[in-house]
Amino acid sequence: MSSKKNVDLLVGAQWGDEGKGKVVDMLGSDVDVFVRFQGGANAGHTVISDGQKVVFHLLPSGMLYPGKLCVLGNGLVIDPEQFLNETGELFAKGQDRARLAVSPHAHVVMPYHKMLDKLQEEARGKGRKIGTTGRGIGPCYVDKYSRSGLRVEDLLDADVLRERLTYILDEKNQIFTKLYNQKPLPFDEIYEPARKWGEALAPYVDDTRALLRKAVDDGQHILLEGAQAALLDIDHGTYPYVTSSSTSAAGAFTGTGLAPNDLTRVIAVVKAYTTRVGEGPFPTEDFGEDGEKLRANGGEFGATTGRPRRCGWLDVPALKYSMELNGATVIALTKLDVLTGMGGIKVCVAYERDGEKLTTWPNDTRSLSEIQPVYETLPGWDDDITNCKTFEELPANAQAYVKYIEKVLNVPVGLIGVGADRNQTINRGM
Ligand code: IMP
Repeated sequence: MSSKKNVDLLVGAQWGDEGKGKVVDMLGSDVDVFVRFQGGANAGHTVISDGQKVVFHLLPSGMLYPGKLCVLGNGLVIDPEQFLNETGELFAKGQDRARLAVSPHAHVVMPYHKMLDKLQEEARGKGRKIGTTGRGIGPCYVDKYSRSGLRVEDLLDADVLRERLTYILDEKNQIFTKLYNQKPLPFDEIYEPARKWGEALAPYVDDTRALLRKAVDDGQHILLEGAQAALLDIDHGTYPYVTSSSTSAAGAFTGTGLAPNDLTRVIAVVKAYTTRVGEGPFPTEDFGEDGEKLRANGGEFGATTGRPRRCGWLDVPALKYSMELNGATVIALTKLDVLTGMGGIKVCVAYERDGEKLTTWPNDTRSLSEIQPVYETLPGWDDDITNCKTFEELPANAQAYVKYIEKVLNVPVGLIGVGADRNQTINRGM
């Protein structure tokens, strides 16, 4: 067994859409195994390579690298239709050489999960909606924890599938008809496609925990690719305005079967400002011209739903919380170029509530909607930075902004994104 482990965990540090796909893709040439461990097709990881844009919802962003092992771990909720669409598109483009392994223990997002997701959102009504992506994520995780889910392995055996689906669907149909006044779903309309999905998935199903264990022990470079982000974590995020999985570092272990001491680095991806899609508190949201400008300059529209993202400034107490939660060892700072021409750059350093100053992220969601950000303004820059290749080429004020972030968060910034393309990245020793 090699004593040298090489396992990177990459997590979003804010509310998602930090540009994780690009960072994974950028680090990818050196990676042997790419792994997703939580969430499902609610993610939207955009990768732009050689001017070509590819959006991954379910597959690891490393799929663009030929010949690398890509793993969908047990912590995922897999929508087989989405899986087949995404693999189909890649294969049609000739990018079929990546090896893909799917855990038999991952849960399956069934059509009734997507229906329930939408019905539950409607039922929550105005003011209570979560703003989900409608991909069936919450209802599928509910079934996992209530032990009425279907796992990938259940799709592989037609008899097991029939037996399990019979009682599961019966329960779902009670909910559809009695609670939501909907028509029941006919068994065959659910069973037949699911059986075919099983056949299509079968070649990819493997003991992913054992594969990963061996890869770690062989010293292979593994990249655990988090989806969503710390402030959307089911336990530690802005509940109930969160997703239904463990999006912060801890989720990587339950979601793969690897152990905490396998990790060598935790890369926190931080966008140079803040965005949020969906409902929920967002203390530094800017409702004025600056917010509009950030949205326009940053192309802040959801990769999964196309929704305009809410935009605002960097939130230092939120990020300190996120760094602690994730045990971040290095930051990948993305979209610094979007701040070019913004004038002064506001940074939230504390909050105020009823005349009281808070310097840490509040522990209860309710007070998050009552606090007001306290800003410092740092000097901005106007020079185009999209062609900068080194830190020293950045304008002095852009360098100062990066150094400020390192100082207040006490975590080094190892990568700086200055444009959408894989090559528009300044590497400071990662
Ligand atoms: P769900 O994950 O579809 O249940 O949605 C729950 C919340 O998480 C909503 O506010 C979504 O907008 C948000 N969310 C889910 N996936 C992402 C993502 O990949 N980026 C940003 N927000 C997300």
